[in-house]
Amino acid sequence: MRIFMDTANIEDIRRGVAMGVVDGVTTNPSLVAKEGIEYRDRVLEICEVVQGPVSAECISEAADDLVEEARRIAAWNEHVVVKIPMTEAGLAAIKRVSAEGIKVNTTLIFSPNQALLAARAGATYVSPFIGRLNDAGHDGMAVVRESVQIFEAFHLPTQVLAASIRLPRDVTDAALAGSHVATIPANVLFEMVKHPLTDSGIERFLADAKKYTPV
Ligand code: G3P
Repeated sequence: MRIFMDTANIEDIRRGVAMGVVDGVTTNPSLVAKEGIEYRDRVLEICEVVQGPVSAECISEAADDLVEEARRIAAWNEHVVVKIPMTEAGLAAIKRVSAEGIKVNTTLIFSPNQALLAARAGATYVSPFIGRLNDAGHDGMAVVRESVQIFEAFHLPTQVLAASIRLPRDVTDAALAGSHVATIPANVLFEMVKHPLTDSGIERFLADAKKYTPV
């Protein structure tokens, strides 16, 4: 499973990339709004740092407007993946821009049927929102698992990108569900590195290492 960061904070992205495990980044209007910077400027900065897929979201609603916006956003940088929401107009736009070679991440996926439709339209990624489904009393990870199963059964090349992740355990569950990618908030990614037994183990090794001459 590939690891993306779900943030628009450039310092966190630099830190994640420096760890050597970040393959891409996903952004959305809410994440960029928190940063107090223009959307395009931040996306370009992120592309420079991550050198991998960077999702940037369309905010148009009609199909023709989405197509025009997707073309414009995709032209910002070779790494840009255009995020289009799951609507009828969104599907029509995905079909058209995917045929032009523009990579699309279909956002706001809440059911395997939505995932199937986006895949048939030609999306590169579908993003089921795990946390928001769980918040509403549903089983978020079931949507990931079933979407993966459907894509495998019909050899659909679309990748499942588990989004709206809230806890380190969600990442494990997404991997076990066969998700191709998980997009992880910075705090969750940095938390995944840690374990109290790792810390105490390092402490003990360092203490014992003082008992001999360093090599
Ligand atoms: O980027 C989309 C998704 O990951 C948002 O997560 O926490 O706002 O539900 P959240």
